[in-house]
Amino acid sequence: KGKYQIVMIRHGESEWNQKNLFCGWFDAALSDKGKQEACAAGNAVKDAKMKFDVAFTSMLTRAQETLLAVLEASEHGEIPIHKTWRLNERHYGSLTGLNKAETAKKFGEEKVKVWRRSFDTPPPPMEKDHKYYDAIVNDPRYCDGPKPEEFPMFESLKLTIERTLPYWNEVIVKQIKEGMKVIVAAHGNSLRGIVKHLDQMSNEAIMGLNLPTGIPFVYELDECIKPVAPMRFLGDPETVKKAMESVAKQGKAK
Ligand code: 3PG
Repeated sequence: KGKYQIVMIRHGESEWNQKNLFCGWFDAALSDKGKQEACAAGNAVKDAKMKFDVAFTSMLTRAQETLLAVLEASEHGEIPIHKTWRLNERHYGSLTGLNKAETAKKFGEEKVKVWRRSFDTPPPPMEKDHKYYDAIVNDPRYCDGPKPEEFPMFESLKLTIERTLPYWNEVIVKQIKEGMKVIVAAHGNSLRGIVKHLDQMSNEAIMGLNLPTGIPFVYELDECIKPVAPMRFLGDPETVKKAMESVAKQGKAK
């Protein structure tokens, strides 16, 4: 057991996950399945008798709604919820809105795997004439950041980590060290960035990590916020393994 414990969860399946579209900063809603996953996650948290003092999530609806469902199902009252763009999903650039299987057919599965899972190869940038450029860039929810000059048009995992880690270190870790029990509800790749940092994973090893939707995982941390054990999912191992495999398969050409 570590001195500290933190729970993290990737949002439940979104409507764009269901359609197998690159999503990134597009604000896709949870699918019905994703809402059920979020409730099930809340029940798992309740069964584990976990209670949180503070929550962190992104600016995106799919993560915020997952968090609310988890807190409700685990019978939390009102706890502070901090929302930040720094926990947003990685920005998928010009791939946003494209079907992952069709993109794999067009550019090859290897290229899509590099775009989805590599450390420092970004997707092509989202140009001003992109179908979703206005919906994302002019969204009023970003009035408190990022600043226009730092608003991403594409992100590699490296770039994602560079904007997530300052928040992790200066805000989340500070609360953990103050004894707050923390839950983070975020996204497949913003969480992969935190996991890569916590587990000190190599750039090669991170290629192999796919996080399932809607299954909470726990880290036991020592006084230096170093994991004392590997991440532990609140779900049966077989289900978790299958869910990770289905995320990986999303990048296969049909
Ligand atoms: C997306 O942004 O498309 C998903 O939320 C994560 O996608 P990935 O698993 O293809 O990185």
